[in-house]
Amino acid sequence: NKLLTNPRRLSDDVDNSQSFFASPPLLSSNTTSASSIIIEDGTVKVKRKLGLLSGTALIVGTMIGSGIFISPKGVIAGTGSVALSLIVWVACGFISLFGALAYAELGTLISKSGAEYAYLLEAGKVFPKCCAPIPAFLFSWVSIFVLKPCLFAVISLSFGIYAVEPFYHGCEVPMSLVKLISVLCICLVAAVNCHSVTLATKVQNFFTMAKLLAIAVIVMGGFIMIFKGHTEYINEGFEDTSKNPSSIALAFYDGLWAYDGWNNLNYATEELKNPYVNLPRAIMLGIPLVTLCYLLTNLSYLAVMSKETLLASNAVAATWGAEVLGAAAVLIPIFVTLSTFGAANGSCFTGGRLIYAAAREGHLPEVFSYIHVKKGTPLPSLLLTTAVAIMMMIPGDIFSLIDFFSFAAWLFYGATMAAVLILRYRLPDVPRVYRVPTIMPVLVLIISCYLVLAPIIQQPRIEFFYATLFILSGLLFYIPFVGLKIKIKYLEPLTTFIQCALEVAPSRYEPP
Ligand code: ARG
Repeated sequence: NKLLTNPRRLSDDVDNSQSFFASPPLLSSNTTSASSIIIEDGTVKVKRKLGLLSGTALIVGTMIGSGIFISPKGVIAGTGSVALSLIVWVACGFISLFGALAYAELGTLISKSGAEYAYLLEAGKVFPKCCAPIPAFLFSWVSIFVLKPCLFAVISLSFGIYAVEPFYHGCEVPMSLVKLISVLCICLVAAVNCHSVTLATKVQNFFTMAKLLAIAVIVMGGFIMIFKGHTEYINEGFEDTSKNPSSIALAFYDGLWAYDGWNNLNYATEELKNPYVNLPRAIMLGIPLVTLCYLLTNLSYLAVMSKETLLASNAVAATWGAEVLGAAAVLIPIFVTLSTFGAANGSCFTGGRLIYAAAREGHLPEVFSYIHVKKGTPLPSLLLTTAVAIMMMIPGDIFSLIDFFSFAAWLFYGATMAAVLILRYRLPDVPRVYRVPTIMPVLVLIISCYLVLAPIIQQPRIEFFYATLFILSGLLFYIPFVGLKIKIKYLEPLTTFIQCALEVAPSRYEPP
């Protein structure tokens, strides 16, 4: 194979700085040849394999993970009343939808993969040239080494817990076993994603269908109970509503965790067929669908258990199953394992694409932007995200890690909302295929500021300081390796070695 015997890098001769922007929108679906990869001038081309359905499944299947089976307790605890908790669930759906519609504008304006990374890189150009890429770099730094692998690890850990628990009949489950199963889940998901994009999308589609069916079972069970007249708990309405804004904010945190993943398709826009049409459509289909599922599931929970029972339960869905399904309650842990496995698959898929996008811009060693010459999968970047996720399993409690970094996630969601406004000012004349009503990003920007600042102000803990230091420590790498472009001596031969060992080669951005 010519590519492998004579490895070639992007930096050799490929101009990767082609226009970010949408050329006139394509209104028909992209046609692509049968082979998975086309080799042209020494680079490989990624095929657009995601259609509307797979795109929607990437959003829905990652958003619905373990949250809806666990978070309702936190939302009730924070809001104090049934009615306000339902309002918070719907409000979180709207926040996610507004955020995602803003991402739809960005994703159709800048059709590169990498979501926030690509948008911050473009919006950062309002700053002086030397520091323009810093916001994007710091985003990729935190996301690649903490946020994305942490999400992948957490969701796999939920998979591990639910896969093991049924065999322990209420006894304490050994954490080492849970972690072992979780690592197996991570490896399996990574293997699927490394093997083929088509297989990864098929897995995502299958598990999304499975979790929607699981939710349909819970919703139908609830409706039967409501028709039988079990509305006493729902009728409590606003009784005992909390008046404390900070506890209501906590409810939002729990609710928004269940909705996290609404931006997932933006990480892979370069693999989406006809992104100008399919990106906004997948968002407009996926997020309202998830919101409806979450609202109905909560109604179903409240049809069979009181607020007090819900607060006393550690696994809301399991308690619901014991009440409604009787002997069939074993189905619930199966539902949750299916749901978390699918979400882990989506998290791995998008985690890899972010690394790929950042490496292509020179913000990581170039080899991480290479893709497999036959399979078309971003193998080095998938392996990196998997390795970091497995390492995250080792310390005791990754859930607290996510607590201290979720403010960082909202910091970057907020920055991306600001990017919508900045790009409107900087590039007023570039045609927008989709234009989000300005109020939506503004609202999400205000909410993100609140979600970033509230926990720090209410409970100033030293860990937030460490997390901030970690974010800024990215500059220690940025200044020498990106700013001053210092080359590492052994990187070239190492890159050649990895290129030959993994059969990967450079690819470049192909406008739709
Ligand atoms: N919302 C999901 C859940 O309820 C978690 C999503 C993880 N986020 C992500 N970007 N992979 O479990």
